[in-house]
Amino acid sequence: MDFNLSEEQLMIQQAARDFAQNELLPEVIERDREQKFPTEQVKKMGEMGLLGMMVDPKYGGAGMDSVSYVLAMEEIAKIDASAAVVMSVNNSLVCAGLEKYASEEQKVKYLTPLASGQVIGAFALSEPEAGSDATSQKTTAEDKGDYYLLNGVKNWITNGGTASYYIVIAQTDPEKKHKGINAFIVERGWEGFEIGPKEDKLGIRGSDTHSLLFNNVKVPKENRIGEDGFGFNFAMAVLNGGRIGIASQALGIASGAYEMALKYAKTRKAFKTEIINHQAIAFKLADMATQITAARMLCFKAAVDKDAGKDISEIGAMAKLYSSQVAMDTTIEAVQIHGGYGYVKEYHVERLMRDAKITQIYEGTSEIQKIVISRSISK
Ligand code: CAA
Repeated sequence: MDFNLSEEQLMIQQAARDFAQNELLPEVIERDREQKFPTEQVKKMGEMGLLGMMVDPKYGGAGMDSVSYVLAMEEIAKIDASAAVVMSVNNSLVCAGLEKYASEEQKVKYLTPLASGQVIGAFALSEPEAGSDATSQKTTAEDKGDYYLLNGVKNWITNGGTASYYIVIAQTDPEKKHKGINAFIVERGWEGFEIGPKEDKLGIRGSDTHSLLFNNVKVPKENRIGEDGFGFNFAMAVLNGGRIGIASQALGIASGAYEMALKYAKTRKAFKTEIINHQAIAFKLADMATQITAARMLCFKAAVDKDAGKDISEIGAMAKLYSSQVAMDTTIEAVQIHGGYGYVKEYHVERLMRDAKITQIYEGTSEIQKIVISRSISK
């Protein structure tokens, strides 16, 4: 087992680290306060190949491996978890799903601009009453011959107000339950497709989260992904990979908070010495470092297994479950180490603590990850 990163992986890690320091850090506090989407920064991420990292270059992607994706996600999320989720959704839920399951025509028309970062995409599965219980889709796609008529509401959609293309999951035949669900590519601006108001969120406030409303939207037949009834299996397969992205985002949030807490503990003095010399602080940092290393190993294992074509449902869920818990625990302790400074915006760790929480909720709550893992181990 080789734990060394390749030259290329180290280069990508460094490029993402430099980009995060130079381009994301300067206004990250303002974007969080004002709920401002990082438009210019996302454009540059597209130019760097960060929005279609694992896609074949013939479809506009960067052709990199999944470990590189984990490395880049961690560096971006350390500084700006909002930019990281834009990147994760576009890479893992949109581009990966299209590359694996879309038709050649769909790949040329939609995947190529998405992977090259000319436009961004969104993945619309969750509904007011179907988040965890994803088979209970109320959005309907009625088969009308050469098109489907889409009606319903989607909730909490990341990139909801900024995407150009949306992968929308809907029920075509309720009698067939999950076998009657389909996935469609829907374009922004189609008649009857309305973007709801932006959510006012606790964390990842620079990302753009909206509800979506579909009122008799005509979706051409050729925009269905895969065979009739493939939509639920499509969504599950895509989410398995997506969990590596969110696990890496959580890892970045944790390691960002840890690095700041370590630096602070080495310089801040109390009781006549730097606070890192007090075991109460040093032990917290030791726990953080250990947990972050374990989380990173889980992310790498999931990434390597994905590239080897293995079933990653279990390891992906483990990586997400554990990394998101580490993100939550680490950021809380980072605030504690900073004391009063940790509670004000200037020191970043309070933002990371707020950002951490969503990693235990989206792309399957921690409870859903435990369902996936326990089903897998009891097979
Ligand atoms: N991988 C592959 N296939 C899977 C799967 C997995 N992890 N889990 C289920 N399936 C397949 C099953 O094999 C079955 O397929 P067949 O009938 O062909 O055999 C089918 O899906 C139905 O399976 P179940 O009967 O097990 O389905 P269920 O109703 O019990 O639900 C669940 C399973 C794991 C709870 C699933 O509903 C789930 O993952 N829910 C969470 C959904 C989720 O992550 N939502 C987040 C929204 S996206 C988001 O957050 C994006 C963002 O903004 C960042």
